Amino acid sequence: MSDTFYLTTPLYYVNGVPHVGHAYTSVIADAIARYKRMCGLEVCSLTGTDEHGLKIERAARQQGMDPQKFTNTYAAKFRQAWKKLGLNFDEFIRTTEKRHSEAVVEIFERIRENNFIYLGEYSGNYCVNCEAYTPEGVTDCPDCGRPIEFMTEESYFFKLSAFEEKLLNFYDSNPDFVLPTTRMNEIVSFVKGGLKDLSISRTSFSWGIPVPGDENHIFYVWFDALTGYLAGIGFAGQGENFEQYWPADVQLIGKDILRFHAVYWPAFLIAAGLEPPRHILVNGWWTVEGEKMSKSRGNTVTAEELISLVQSDYVKYFLLREIPIGADGNFSYKLLLKRVNSDLANDLGNLSNRILTMIENYFKGQIPESGEPETRDKELRQFSSETIDLFRKNFDSLQINKAIDNVWELISMVNKYIVANEPWAMGSDPTKEDRLGTVLYYSAETLRIVAVLMAPIIPAGTASILEQLGISKPLEDHRIPQLAWGELEMGSSIGKIQAIYPRLDPDEFLSRVEEERREKEAPPQALQEADGTSKREEIKIEDFAKVEMRVGKIVSAERIPKSDKLLKVQVDIGSEVRQVVAGIAQEYSSEELPGRLVAVVTNLKTVKLMGVESNGMLVAATSKGKPVLVTFNEPVRLGSRLQ
Ligand code: MSP
Repeated sequence: MSDTFYLTTPLYYVNGVPHVGHAYTSVIADAIARYKRMCGLEVCSLTGTDEHGLKIERAARQQGMDPQKFTNTYAAKFRQAWKKLGLNFDEFIRTTEKRHSEAVVEIFERIRENNFIYLGEYSGNYCVNCEAYTPEGVTDCPDCGRPIEFMTEESYFFKLSAFEEKLLNFYDSNPDFVLPTTRMNEIVSFVKGGLKDLSISRTSFSWGIPVPGDENHIFYVWFDALTGYLAGIGFAGQGENFEQYWPADVQLIGKDILRFHAVYWPAFLIAAGLEPPRHILVNGWWTVEGEKMSKSRGNTVTAEELISLVQSDYVKYFLLREIPIGADGNFSYKLLLKRVNSDLANDLGNLSNRILTMIENYFKGQIPESGEPETRDKELRQFSSETIDLFRKNFDSLQINKAIDNVWELISMVNKYIVANEPWAMGSDPTKEDRLGTVLYYSAETLRIVAVLMAPIIPAGTASILEQLGISKPLEDHRIPQLAWGELEMGSSIGKIQAIYPRLDPDEFLSRVEEERREKEAPPQALQEADGTSKREEIKIEDFAKVEMRVGKIVSAERIPKSDKLLKVQVDIGSEVRQVVAGIAQEYSSEELPGRLVAVVTNLKTVKLMGVESNGMLVAATSKGKPVLVTFNEPVRLGSRLQ
């Protein structure tokens, strides 16, 4: 077995701030990286940001920002969030970096040399949100439900159709390529259904990496972004790291991006003469209070919010304990509160405090000598070593929540052991000192084992437990495979006793959550620059003047068939009646709109939404995630310009 381990998270889109769903994949990656390190492997963990493409370009323009500045700002938010959540990565790749674009060009050239690229023409429906072409015959994107757009363009194609057999053979020889394996079956049937060539360049936008020799073409974002996994370890420069770490051992992804990683990605790699990754580990999705997270619902739990409410171990523990990797989960602060209060504050925090306090009180803070073991002691020791084995077996097969369960069984066992032995009743009896020493040694040694096993998952609190036990070796120098009974040194001094996992007071905590929520609905804060300073994006007055906004009166409105959100609105702007498509159908009925005086942006390029032409935009504010139209109460001349 190789002694290196390379794992990756997806590269996150920078069109929004990091939220609990993104944090989840990063938390899993951090725990696996720490575990593998504690198994003695040389680990490289990579995360990063996916910054090109139409979706990002549009998001930047909507905020009146230049795409590069925009992505600098948002990439910095991801970097900061992971740091504050105590997630350590060795590499952070941004797809706007030079090392990345060089890697994309390099892999493209290799694939082209191997005759898997040709120039053709593509027409089809495209979902800007998912940056993916959608199947024929649908009007809304099957993945995200948003309206799709029709596009025709010249395009470079990747001969994916040539990979059907190769991929099926590869899956056959690597049945656990995709984990959990139920997801593998999904992919096998998809490929068996036939593969079409894949368009990998676009001419319809410019925010991306140009195709070498044909600079009108920009690489398709997925071709671009996937290469980040290679770029981050020195692919184009042929750095030593690349040789050492590729193929990746585990690539973590969410279930929505499985096809890109389990079909296109290995095909690109094989076409370039590179090995596919060893495993793709697919995680489920988190809802919030049972609902899908979305900007329009305003229910997104951001990483920043989590960090400001609870310590990082609480977040990590909750996310990893609550569900098995692969299943969907439901996030709620009430569940988090219950989980951390019962497991971390009560079970583990109290256990640690109890054992250390008794050592302090009965043995002046020195780890006692252990005497001749009795049956109960032997059972505890036996259970500890069985727990180490089970924990490793489960963690090695990436069943982290089961591995945690194993440790909790041990915690429950040692708690019962303490209750059964009643050490507090022996404290004042000098004839029982030996027995008391043994009981406390066994308890403290079990606590040490618990702390080392849990270190990859809750590193902050477990580091503190080990320090309090008087162990100065840094957390990452402990080796889980060598973990064995008896390492705790008798006679050594314990450290200063500290509470590690304070209990969250339910009322106080839930009212802080409420408060945080209210603040989120307050006017948007100044944007953060990449260097951490706050600055509002400033534009010149001439730039503002380019936007032509006029007063209009709604003449009529009707729903667009098959769309929940869109209304087709006719607005009289004095000189003409304009047709505008507005995403307000959930908030405004077509009957209540006629007669209203509204603000209309009148110099936008015509676009088609769900096949309906739109010549402008109704100006609206967003409140609690919902649009509220700007209207006029005073009489005002139709067509008057807003400035
Ligand atoms: N940029 C692409 C990935 C390119 S990788 C070369 C992308 N980005 S994303 O920001 O939209 O999603 C990143 C990851 O976050 C995905 O794995 C996705 O599944 C995950 N999640 C986004 N929302 C999520 C939840 N609500 N719950 C769990 N994971 C979620 O896709």
